[in-house]
Amino acid sequence: MTNRTSGYNFPTQLLKTLRFARQVAVLTGAGISAESGLATFRDPMTGLWAKFRPEELATPEAFQRNPKLVWEWYQWRREQVEKAAPNPGHFALAQIESKVPKFSLITQNVDSLHQQAGSKNVVELHGNIRRTKCFEENIVVESWPETEDVPPHCPRCGGLLRPDVVWFGENLPLEALYAAANASKNADLFFSIGTSGQVEPAASLPRLAQQNGATVVTINLEVTTTAFHKVYNFNGRAGEILPALVQKAWAG
Ligand code: APR
Repeated sequence: MTNRTSGYNFPTQLLKTLRFARQVAVLTGAGISAESGLATFRDPMTGLWAKFRPEELATPEAFQRNPKLVWEWYQWRREQVEKAAPNPGHFALAQIESKVPKFSLITQNVDSLHQQAGSKNVVELHGNIRRTKCFEENIVVESWPETEDVPPHCPRCGGLLRPDVVWFGENLPLEALYAAANASKNADLFFSIGTSGQVEPAASLPRLAQQNGATVVTINLEVTTTAFHKVYNFNGRAGEILPALVQKAWAG
């Protein structure tokens, strides 16, 4: 069942499923932060990977080869994130969380915009760019002495500091992975929002939810080819579709 969102008329069955859902799980990707002015990764022209080579900037090997380049690139991304504010899509998800008995927000984003919008139960699959950790000890470091060194050094072991994000080829934080898998398996309604579904293991979560009986809703600017049945595909901006869905589901 596919419904173009002109006029935002959502199928009655979907509105009912949302209003009476026991447990909702949501997977978000860079697309939900696009309307906050943050570049996605794979959009042909504007995506970060259209301009920069991930293997030169987002792998542990790249960091070992050129830690200054990688640190400064993440500093630049951090400044973008600092300037960004949550958009209506983020706020609508926080609203849904307040209206359903159980809710989990699984994000691939490292920008904290969901938390800023008031979302509580957020699972950060790929870390958070506002946190820093020691490359050697893999432990979060809150503060370090200001020196000329770029990147700065760990105050405990002297190792290099790095952003607390998951780079290609690295394992996801186990706790987050378990929480994401459990939330997906137990959901009766699963949303996949603003993700191209090209990066595992996140890309498998909608299928896991669907295999365990969930109704799946995808919201994406571009048409995504999902092989699921019992799915609702909405093509458009998450910041427009989500508020309209909340408004329709809980109207009056
Ligand atoms: N509303 C909804 N969807 C949107 C919007 C929008 N306003 N703008 C863009 N999109 C869609 C794009 O069409 C694309 O399908 O969001 C998707 C973003 O996909 P990617 O750029 O591939 O980002 P994501 O899926 O989050 O990437 C996964 O890859 O590079 C790594 O670690 C990084 O977490 C990231 C992971």
